[in-house]
Amino acid sequence: KTIYLKDYRAPDYLIDETHLTFELFEDHTLVHAQLVMRRNPELSAELPVLSLDGQQLELLRITLDDRELTAADYQLSDSHLTLQPTQASFVIDSTVRIHPESNTALEGLYKSSGMFCTQCEAEGFRKITYYLDRPDVMSKFTTTVSGDKQKYPILLSNGNPIASGSEEGGRHWATWEDPFKKPAYLFALVAGDLWCVEDKFTTLSSREVTLRIYVEPENIDKVQHAMDSLKKSMKWDEEVYGREYDLDIFMIVAVNDFNMGAMENKGLNIFNSSCVLARAETATDAAHQRVEAVVAHEYFHNWSGNRVTCRDWFQLSLKEGFTVFRDAEFSADMNSRTVKRIEDVAYLRTHQFAEDAGPMAHPVRPDAYMEISNFYTLTIYEKGSEVLRMIHTLLGNQAFRKGSDLYFERHDGQAVTCDDFVKAMEDASGIDLTQFKRWYTQAGTPRLAVSEAFDATARTYTLNFTQSCPATPGQSDKLPFVIPVELGLLDARGNDLPLRLQGEAAASGTSRVLSVTEAQQSFTFVDIAEQPLPSLLRGFSAPVKLSFPYDRDQLMFLMQHDSDGFNRWEAGQQLSVQVLQELIGQQQRGEALVLDQRLVTALRSLLQDGRLDQAMVAEMLSLPGEAYLTEISEVADVEAIHGAREFARQQLAEALFEPLWQRYQANREVSKGTPYVAEAEHFARRSLQNIALSYLMLTGKPEVLAATLEQYEACDNMTERLTALAVLVNSPFEAERGKALEAFAEHFKDNALVMDQWFSVQAASTLPGGLQRVQALMQHPAFTLKNPNKVRALIGAFAGQNLVNFHLADGSGYRFLADQVITLNALNPQIASRLLAPLTRWRKYAAARQALMKAELERILASGELSADVYEVVSKSLA
Ligand code: ARG
Ligand code: ZN
Repeated sequence: KTIYLKDYRAPDYLIDETHLTFELFEDHTLVHAQLVMRRNPELSAELPVLSLDGQQLELLRITLDDRELTAADYQLSDSHLTLQPTQASFVIDSTVRIHPESNTALEGLYKSSGMFCTQCEAEGFRKITYYLDRPDVMSKFTTTVSGDKQKYPILLSNGNPIASGSEEGGRHWATWEDPFKKPAYLFALVAGDLWCVEDKFTTLSSREVTLRIYVEPENIDKVQHAMDSLKKSMKWDEEVYGREYDLDIFMIVAVNDFNMGAMENKGLNIFNSSCVLARAETATDAAHQRVEAVVAHEYFHNWSGNRVTCRDWFQLSLKEGFTVFRDAEFSADMNSRTVKRIEDVAYLRTHQFAEDAGPMAHPVRPDAYMEISNFYTLTIYEKGSEVLRMIHTLLGNQAFRKGSDLYFERHDGQAVTCDDFVKAMEDASGIDLTQFKRWYTQAGTPRLAVSEAFDATARTYTLNFTQSCPATPGQSDKLPFVIPVELGLLDARGNDLPLRLQGEAAASGTSRVLSVTEAQQSFTFVDIAEQPLPSLLRGFSAPVKLSFPYDRDQLMFLMQHDSDGFNRWEAGQQLSVQVLQELIGQQQRGEALVLDQRLVTALRSLLQDGRLDQAMVAEMLSLPGEAYLTEISEVADVEAIHGAREFARQQLAEALFEPLWQRYQANREVSKGTPYVAEAEHFARRSLQNIALSYLMLTGKPEVLAATLEQYEACDNMTERLTALAVLVNSPFEAERGKALEAFAEHFKDNALVMDQWFSVQAASTLPGGLQRVQALMQHPAFTLKNPNKVRALIGAFAGQNLVNFHLADGSGYRFLADQVITLNALNPQIASRLLAPLTRWRKYAAARQALMKAELERILASGELSADVYEVVSKSLA
């Protein structure tokens, strides 16, 4: 069943107060709900039928204003309870029995490693009690939790604790009250045997807030980084957005089984343990940065999401796009801004662009969905964040801040739409964003082709822009977008020229933003004495596919001279893409592969320049990934892409052995003498050290093997250890590889998050036999399909990163993935549906692979009762 945005209706009834009592037992849980309700005063005085959402609930008792209802008074289906109210205000009391102990979907109330926890967004609350489970119904919650004192000494819910006590039979209870109205999707409950680290934060207006991070006792030594990140986030949101925290206590709880990264429940954020726990010995630099970013993201939701929430789920990007933009800027401020931008853009272009080009393509604000869980996508999150970034670029920082202040003030306590957000930005800035809003309604990645014309006599330089956007499901024709293009013009020495457009009195600046708003549009710069070289789309100022006919010498020039760090990297990527595509062509024609030596020269000069930011050097040494090369191919040739890229890596390793070896050794020396610090400068050193090592090992030299083993054994942190392990796993040194894998597993067998990394490193190894290795690893005692992190670490990494092995020509990789999807469909539909993504990309491949992939999709479709999650993705992929 498809739900449409155009069918939105305001709720017939409101719930002013929600009083919940949970009685937790080992084989069931009882939920008592008292709902203080009334007819929506904005609608007529008539009293329509009340339809409460409810799934997998066993109704034990229900009363309406103290009158016990019998089966004749209401209708029950597997998704609703309907009854006829007789007064405008009334109270409904119900008791249901639910089974968190056997809830493998991890939605609603469930158990994870012995503790009770919840995940209600988007529509999990209806698996807890009968309710109006929609975000525009906001209510004041009080929650009482009762459970065994020994097993569940900690009982938590949203808001502030107001009462607690003991019961007979070794049980106890606690009552929490949340003074802020909220939709049910922000409800949370936790009960378990947990320890916490506590800290304090004093807000801008001098209120003291207690901060607690709860974890299983054995993880208590891994929360300091998250606590530091939380305090930084709270401070940043005050400084940059003027947003203060609003309750007396803020809690984070780490759980092991979690479908996504984390959840912003009011005052009680629940996290996948992979996004909280971090310390040097067990978590990589990337994991430390992810923890910092996710802690910030969930904290920032307190305003962008909770105080101001979404009217309906079509507006999801209202909170997610905005909050991703906020957390990205936070990370940029905490670490290296340029490196953060590079990582985000590489991710967007590889994965979101692929989504835009596939069967599930949808606008930032979708018009229709079957299962909302399928719309927690790269488009809603990452492209949504790019849309916010463009608004920021077009308005400038000051007007943007005025707009966000107005938005929060105007809509505090409300459930609103993307239009309301844009309206606040327009009202605060005076800028008309009517055309800009097409970014919310049109799906697909716009193309922006640019050409130039230099007129030496007139001393003018013209840039011609042509924009278009490919058709996407349900949208054949697109109207022009507003595309902010930040650019500069470089002279022959690499300096930025002053920019003066025809008609302007004087030049203003050397880097500026042009708004391309028409299908074809030209801009002419005056006072240009010599042919310049344009630096276009600086900082990736719009999520488009830009093309300009640069030759390789020009790209090398930009790599060296562009004043925009992002575009220096981008020039390097474009150079690599050109070189790799040439190799792919040679491979397809059966010719000998010849690497363009200009790539070697360009990378050599980077390695030899000691003044450059090491993280930037590391980023620039990273060739575009196979998934990105796939995305930009018309028809992706899996083997040719892999072969060409590996050939280039091998050639680079040999040609650049000396400078790589020197940088590696110098950095490893510093790492040896420096205790682990999770800060940008140290991330930078280790990233260059590690990418150097991965190149060096391609030469197979014994001194590199020795260095790898030294790093593996002697380092004090997971960043260096895991890289050394990965390098061995992908090397021809079978004995060393086996020994290291075994030693690693033996040492870390009790740490699930570290074992995830051990699975991933092997799942991603492109050596032949990948599928058999993954199948064998599924039998490993540390693996289970019931834990989403394990599924992602092994099966997800295999299908998403190990392209040569997943796309084996006989289709065995596809068959394997489909088997896992079919099994998971019954256990955890959300995870099953996400795991499917690689199969939905069949249009990218040649006929033989297309047929094999579609056959597996058909097999899933015919496999029996499908969840809405899997059904939607499979049926749309085959449509
Ligand atoms: N709101 C959460 C976040 O982005 C994610 C919730 C995911 N829920 C889901 N059903 N997939 O921080
Ligand atoms: Zn979010």
